[in-house]
Amino acid sequence: MIIEPKMRGFICLTAHPIGCEQNIINQINYVKSKGQIEGSKKVLVIGASTGFGLASRITAAFGSNAATVGVYFEKPPQEGKTASPGWYNTAAFEDQAHKAGLYAKSINGDAFSDEIKQKTIELIKADLGQIDLIIYSLASPVRTNPKTGVTHRSVLKPIGQPFSNKTVDFHTGVVSDITIQPCADDDIENTVAVMGGEDWEMWIDELKSAGVLAPGATTVAYSYIGPELTEAVYRKGTIGKAKDHLEATAFTIADKLKDINGNAFVSVNKALVTQASSAIPVIPLYISLLYKVMKEDNIHEGCIEQIQRLFQQRLFNGSSIPTDEKGRIRIDDWEMRPDVQAKVAELWKQATTESLSEIGDLAGYKTDFLNLFGFDVANVDYNADVNEMVEIPGLV
Ligand code: NAI
Ligand code: NA
Repeated sequence: MIIEPKMRGFICLTAHPIGCEQNIINQINYVKSKGQIEGSKKVLVIGASTGFGLASRITAAFGSNAATVGVYFEKPPQEGKTASPGWYNTAAFEDQAHKAGLYAKSINGDAFSDEIKQKTIELIKADLGQIDLIIYSLASPVRTNPKTGVTHRSVLKPIGQPFSNKTVDFHTGVVSDITIQPCADDDIENTVAVMGGEDWEMWIDELKSAGVLAPGATTVAYSYIGPELTEAVYRKGTIGKAKDHLEATAFTIADKLKDINGNAFVSVNKALVTQASSAIPVIPLYISLLYKVMKEDNIHEGCIEQIQRLFQQRLFNGSSIPTDEKGRIRIDDWEMRPDVQAKVAELWKQATTESLSEIGDLAGYKTDFLNLFGFDVANVDYNADVNEMVEIPGLV
């Protein structure tokens, strides 16, 4: 079939398998161009099909020749209906990994469930014995706690008082004022239950008691801080409470891993266009201004550049892992540079529907968004008839 982007609200309902494949090849080539990393050899990535998790899987495999197991929740294709992009990403990744002689298998299902955790453990036991790196990179609006059976939904809201600021509809480029009402009482608890550290800890508990963590095993989860501009809706909002919990959980897990010489970290990453971040109000306007400034300063990075740098210069730099005063790895260092933030804050004041295409990188935002679904990727023939019924070679 001929596949075109079909937008609905903030999501795209279609995905292009060849475009997704080209994105994977580009990311692999980038990692290879940066040289070998003396990293982990057996890696589990939870949330492995898009965004930072996918970039982590690619970096481990093609930077360190690691065997990788990926866990993700993606929609398979049906005749005449495309799969979700993470499906095509994973198919292309595993195809490339297998061609390079690398072990790569994956599990599609709800990572929050006991069932998927057990299935993952069985796969590791059968094929790899033990793993030495676990990347936790889930982004989800909903989680059913397997112990209580309660389904929690996360919200992206300020706490205590309404928040008013500018935002952009990146499809139309219209900048407008929005007011987001504060969350209800149980919204904080629910958002923490979905995006906090409880499930991360459950994963590590299960993996450890099954004996599949190698001596020295390390686990890393991803967090975000960001500027004052977005604080009310992000770091000091409901999602920020979840990130506080995630960051605190790193210490809990680190304690639990001491007896095997293991460790647990949170890495604070840069704001980037992903399916998760596009849904947060105000953030797309911030990202479009940030991209403009960082591209002009030649310090712009996408997911793969961020994660390649995280692995090579932080996690596996041949020496100790540098952290901030709160024990967090910072790979958002360039985003948070005072000169970068000062420029973004100035542009923020000037941002209007009329000025944004000039002072912000709206075009870059749109391209990155389309790229997430395999569209608008260079060297892809979008007029060609393509097979949507792609299989994932390592799917268990
Ligand atoms: P994403 O939406 O690109 O990736 C989410 C991944 O989780 C996908 O692989 C998806 O299949 C998987 N997933 C979601 N629900 C699942 C479930 N129930 N079971 C199994 N897999 C499931 O998101 P992104 O942006 O890469 O986010 C990953 C982490 O990075 C999140 O913790 C996010 O807060 C963090 N982060 C994101 C930033 C951004 O600007 N995008 C900045 C800094 C941190
Ligand atoms: Na991810």
